[in-house]
Amino acid sequence: MTAAPDDGLQALLTQVERSRGLSLRSYKDKCLRRRLAVRMRAAGVHTYGEYAALLGRAPEEFEHLVTALAINVTKFFRNPETYEALRRLVVAPLWQRGTPVKVWSAGCASGEEPYSLALLFLEAADHRASAVRGRVRIDATDLDPGALDDLRRAEYPLPAVEDLPPALLERYFSPGPPYRLDPHVAACVRAIRHDLTREAAPDPPYDLIVCRNVVIYFDRPMQERLFDAFTDALVPGGHLLLGKVETLFGPARSRLLLEEARERLYRRPP
Ligand SMILES: C[S@@+](CC[C@H](N)C(=O)[O-])C[C@H]1O[C@@H](n2cnc3c(N)ncnc32)[C@H](O)[C@@H]1O
Repeated sequence: MTAAPDDGLQALLTQVERSRGLSLRSYKDKCLRRRLAVRMRAAGVHTYGEYAALLGRAPEEFEHLVTALAINVTKFFRNPETYEALRRLVVAPLWQRGTPVKVWSAGCASGEEPYSLALLFLEAADHRASAVRGRVRIDATDLDPGALDDLRRAEYPLPAVEDLPPALLERYFSPGPPYRLDPHVAACVRAIRHDLTREAAPDPPYDLIVCRNVVIYFDRPMQERLFDAFTDALVPGGHLLLGKVETLFGPARSRLLLEEARERLYRRPP
């Protein structure tokens, strides 16, 4: 790709923000340029100006750009030790509490994360799907509509389920591939298209917010804003789980307690 001047990039970002409400400026510069380069190469244009013109006349290109930004790598029980910490420190006490539970999986990709959370609650409830369905609601949000379609389909290839404990795979999935998730489990999860950079929490307050491997794509001011917004959206005593390589900073740092450093698990003081 020919090196494009920065002023062309700024004009492109302004156009996308004005016409589609998507704040591309919140993404890290390097990440954004790489994603734009992928789309520009695919569309056969060489400058940001040409790409802006293309976005203006071909609305479907905007969807391609969103998909390129999505980077929706994920799997069931990604970092199994994190799920073990969640089970012990969050899910078991929440289930024992005996009252309704609300969870938000922010940047949920194709559903492996919110469904893994649902499986933790099912196990805590001795596999009684109807008990969990009545008491646990998991809001699964993502910017990418294609990923949410995959979530609703709830059918997964082998690599998506290979970190699942075998007993859970057997109990909650049809034999595969593709491995089809039991619809009673899927029923605990509600898919919502949602842009973290410009929309408020869908239905606060939450007992648990899981936002893993999403904020790494955003610049520092947006990360700080999101951490603060997540803290606002938690019930007192509620938990926030970030990705393994993500660290809390900004005002939220003094508002949350670090509960489990290795797993990036934080808690709003009760
Ligand atoms: C790497 S995946 C993380 C999936 C899952 N949380 C995990 O850790 O396995 C990142 C997800 O963030 C989503 N994403 C990127 N920008 C977003 C935005 N502005 N609002 C909501 N989701 C966004 C992408 O579509 C993608 O599905």
